[in-house]
Amino acid sequence: MPGRSVWVLALALALALPGSGQQHLDEAERIMKTTPVIDGHNDLPWQLLKRFNNQLRLPEANLTLLNDTHTNIPKLRSGRAAVLTECPWQFWSVYVPCETQDRDAVRRTLEQMDVVQRMCDLYPETFACVTDSAGVRQAFQSGKVASLIGVEGGHSIDSSLGVLRTLYRLGARYMTLTHSCNTPWADNWLVDTEDEKPVHHGLSAFGKTVVWEMNRLGMIVDLAHVSVDTMKMVLNISKAPVIFSHSSAYSICPHRRNVPDDVLRLVASTESLVMVNFYNAYVTCGDTATLSDVADHMDHVKKVAGAQAVGFGGDYDGVSGLPTGLEDVSKYPALVAELLARKWTEEEVRGALAENLLRVFSKVEEVKRTLQGTAAHETPIAFEELEGSCRTSYGYPNGAGSARPLPAALALALALAPLLALLS
Ligand SMILES: *[C@@H]1O[C@H](CO)[C@@H](O)[C@H](O)[C@H]1NC(C)=O
Ligand SMILES: *[C@@H]1O[C@H](CO)[C@@H](O)[C@H](O)[C@H]1NC(C)=O
Ligand SMILES: *[C@@H]1O[C@H](CO)[C@@H](O)[C@H](O)[C@H]1NC(C)=O
Ligand SMILES: [Zn+2]
Repeated sequence: MPGRSVWVLALALALALPGSGQQHLDEAERIMKTTPVIDGHNDLPWQLLKRFNNQLRLPEANLTLLNDTHTNIPKLRSGRAAVLTECPWQFWSVYVPCETQDRDAVRRTLEQMDVVQRMCDLYPETFACVTDSAGVRQAFQSGKVASLIGVEGGHSIDSSLGVLRTLYRLGARYMTLTHSCNTPWADNWLVDTEDEKPVHHGLSAFGKTVVWEMNRLGMIVDLAHVSVDTMKMVLNISKAPVIFSHSSAYSICPHRRNVPDDVLRLVASTESLVMVNFYNAYVTCGDTATLSDVADHMDHVKKVAGAQAVGFGGDYDGVSGLPTGLEDVSKYPALVAELLARKWTEEEVRGALAENLLRVFSKVEEVKRTLQGTAAHETPIAFEELEGSCRTSYGYPNGAGSARPLPAALALALALAPLLALLS
């Protein structure tokens, strides 16, 4: 029969454990008062399009009252902060689906950028749209949610360097090179499954130009959603560090959207960043997950690439299944408490929360400055590399304003040629 002291010890432990959990949570909230989290990927703008066709002033679109999204203003305020200094900063994703490729991708991307800007205009007490690392820090001083724009998918530039530059001028500060489809210049993650054929084995020559133009502009290159070959090629040629805005660790969950260890080592050597995704399918490769499973991914990225390579990339409002304990944007402090319980130092935690992203962003801005005075890349993509039947070919050799002939129409014309010759 166990001695009395064993029971006393068990009782003491039972009392101490919740106590230490509370202590880590208090510690997390203390740290986040001066270093709020910056999340690499939030799809609220996509919800605004799907639900309200971007009509922000519809009564049901009120971001204070909106109650069935992962993101709304009360959740950003976490229900406890009298001032907003603890609010999570966000990269709002201006995602438009792959179906828009070669169709209305540019128009829809511009509309998503517009809805983010209008969100900042309509709720100025909550959001501050900013475009540089200094602006992020200023938004913090004024107690607002620093709001940045990330373009999710290279199809959004329709293979045009001119569109890329224009999106930068309008405030886009990262671009994910692909979504879940190849572009005419980069392969996506589906080529690493059986679902799509590799075309470029990474980037085409034009794809490399896109990366260098992003370096020149000061736009962060995002490697979430790309193939492993694309990851490796970009990590090799980019003049600035890159991010994975919402990807987890392949060793922990072997899903092709995640980052394998050999790539994590390249992330370390280039001082790049992996912002860990919370989506259950990428966290456990199953339908369910817990906050602790997400912390396992953060531990793994830290182990292989270093603490300076870890960030948060929740994918809120872009996914259907989220871990128990991380249900919405009010839950980041619980994950931070878990990292503290796992003996992450305060400096490592501040890095993962925001300082690592700000380091990458500052470095990207520094590369921009060193490239100031270098000419914009001008060589367009070859016309033959483009798809879509409604394009004009102005500017190209033999260019014309007419739509390019459809293969079927071309075949018919060829078939009719001998007949026409007979008639003449
Ligand atoms: C959520 O918002 C809708 C629309 O504004 C409202 O009808 C509904 O009652 C709300 N539900 C809850 C649980 O607050
Ligand atoms: C949203 O609802 C809140 C609470 O009812 C109200 O104070 C605010 O003015 C509304 N904002 C907009 C933009 O409709
Ligand atoms: C890129 O790859 C080349 C050839 O494999 C290698 O020599 C070079 O060190 C790599 N550069 C970076 C930055 O990884
Ligand atoms: Zn995504």
